[in-house]
Amino acid sequence: MCGIVGYTGEKECEDILINSLRKLEYRGYDSAGIAVFENGKIKTVKAKGKINDGLVKKLDEEGSLKGVTGIGHTRWATHGEPSDINSHPIGNGRVSIVHNGIIENYRKIKNFLIGKGYVFESETDTESVAKLLDYYYKGDPTEAISKAVTDIEGAYALGIIFIDHPDMIYAVRKDSPLIVGIGENEMYIASDMTALLEYTKHYYLLETGEIASISKTGATFCDIHGNEIKKEIQTATWDISEAEKGGFEHFMLKEIHEQPSAIHKTISPRIKDGMPCFDECGLTDDMLRNYKHIFIIACGSAMHAGMVGKYLIELLARTPVIVDIASEFRYRNPLLSDKDLVVIISQSGETADTKAALELANEVGADTLAFVNVVGSSIAREAKMVMFTYAGPEISVASTKAYMVQNALMYLLAFRVAFARNMIDEQECRRLVSVLETMPDKVGECLEDLDPYRKAASKLVSADSLLYIGRGLDYALSMEGSLKLKEISYIHSESYAAGELKHGTISLIHEGMPVIAVTTQSGLLSKTVSNMREVRSRGAYVIAVCAEGIQIDSDSADFTITIPASEDMFMPLIAVVPLQLIAYYSSVLRGNDVDKPRNLAKSVTVE
Ligand code: G6P
Repeated sequence: MCGIVGYTGEKECEDILINSLRKLEYRGYDSAGIAVFENGKIKTVKAKGKINDGLVKKLDEEGSLKGVTGIGHTRWATHGEPSDINSHPIGNGRVSIVHNGIIENYRKIKNFLIGKGYVFESETDTESVAKLLDYYYKGDPTEAISKAVTDIEGAYALGIIFIDHPDMIYAVRKDSPLIVGIGENEMYIASDMTALLEYTKHYYLLETGEIASISKTGATFCDIHGNEIKKEIQTATWDISEAEKGGFEHFMLKEIHEQPSAIHKTISPRIKDGMPCFDECGLTDDMLRNYKHIFIIACGSAMHAGMVGKYLIELLARTPVIVDIASEFRYRNPLLSDKDLVVIISQSGETADTKAALELANEVGADTLAFVNVVGSSIAREAKMVMFTYAGPEISVASTKAYMVQNALMYLLAFRVAFARNMIDEQECRRLVSVLETMPDKVGECLEDLDPYRKAASKLVSADSLLYIGRGLDYALSMEGSLKLKEISYIHSESYAAGELKHGTISLIHEGMPVIAVTTQSGLLSKTVSNMREVRSRGAYVIAVCAEGIQIDSDSADFTITIPASEDMFMPLIAVVPLQLIAYYSSVLRGNDVDKPRNLAKSVTVE
């Protein structure tokens, strides 16, 4: 989704703004622009397309912008197609803004302003805010911002510059994220810390309803009534090297390789004396014993981690778990009460639907526990309990290491729920934890030889469509494998419970159609193998992913990928690696932009 940056200091800011925008490319965007104070005037250059093809080219043609204060933006179109005119910054010679979010009542504001004589040029909702600020601006920026945000409805993070304040940037937010970076005689704004890691690790977190007035020497904060707010300085724990490719061709490949260490970093602080420990978030065995229901709510890959969690908790703790897509949950009046636990999973901690689901659960009085990767994110702050996944920054749009560690935490949660509810004893709990601790090595082993994944990808790369099949945990994992492939290779695929194929979907099978069969659950092996034979005898090209020691005969599969074995329950953590890499190589072979697939955004901050 849209990315915001801003700089005020003593250096020429064009390069800093563009460099920071490049760091936000991963969020997904289709146009980019900057506005800089040049000799006291606001000068704007913006263009449809990628930063290099559009904005940088235009700056080369039209001449670079010279100034020490400016704002920048990568836009992911919502209102109005990607075009130069709809790109941000948007404004006039007096006020210019960059915006992330959606202004829901923009038509009303637009009509009001048209009545006042304003003429609109773009199709964006953002222009109504830019013109509203201009309307209210009588020389005092915070007064104009206070009045404007009182009128607007929706989600927004705004970076704003006003003509009479050429050494200042102003910012305000509601729901969409924004931080204020702190340097030496220079200050920044950004949608997230990855944009600024090269310049500073220190920042303020802007909260909903707070207005920041930022000069090169620091920032002051007030609410919309002008009351001053004191804020604490935060320090990022992420390192710039984590947000760089480090010799890998793509971030996705690098992030897949970071999985063993990410699992280790995520689980080891949560294992105390061999037992899973949730003390850091205040979740006690008493609480776990008494919850009536456990819900797991998330979007995309995070929801798939929830599916694995459901199988595990139900298997070990014999407690029913309801997994729901956040955008469905929030509007279906769920049967939720203050006796329930709602587990919210999100890499970014900013996904609009997931955040809304969390707010709903909080309102009902349920206990909310968030698994989040970004410290300081909205979901991390709003959940009653939070456990961070220590994946480090995930830049590739397709989630890999974040999904992996969401799963890893799910295992610990499942063990603890089962122990608290007396479904497993302490000895068994410790044993399960010790198996989990072997997972970084097992995942590492999958990464020793990438050739089989490349070969498997070459077998399916020219297909129009394929199926992923599996049973039990293999089915939960197939969902993630199929999503990964769709996201980055643009090949249509579906995940199907293998036993359900006969009830309609098997009619899709035709000569040469690839079917990826995940067969890691030894207890279900013979059943899945029958399904593989059924599709293969109807012409499918079957690629099997199975654990070492399992023999898949040539009647059942055309190509077999063998991965290290473990207990059935742990296989999803290992088997996801081939699925990630099959998707990765399919995307590479198709010549796609692996890390920034078309139409997708990393952090979906609008509904
Ligand atoms: C987007 C991303 C997915 C991600 C989903 C949920 O759709 O492209 O990779 O799984 O959002 O994101 P979250 O940050 O809440 O985990």
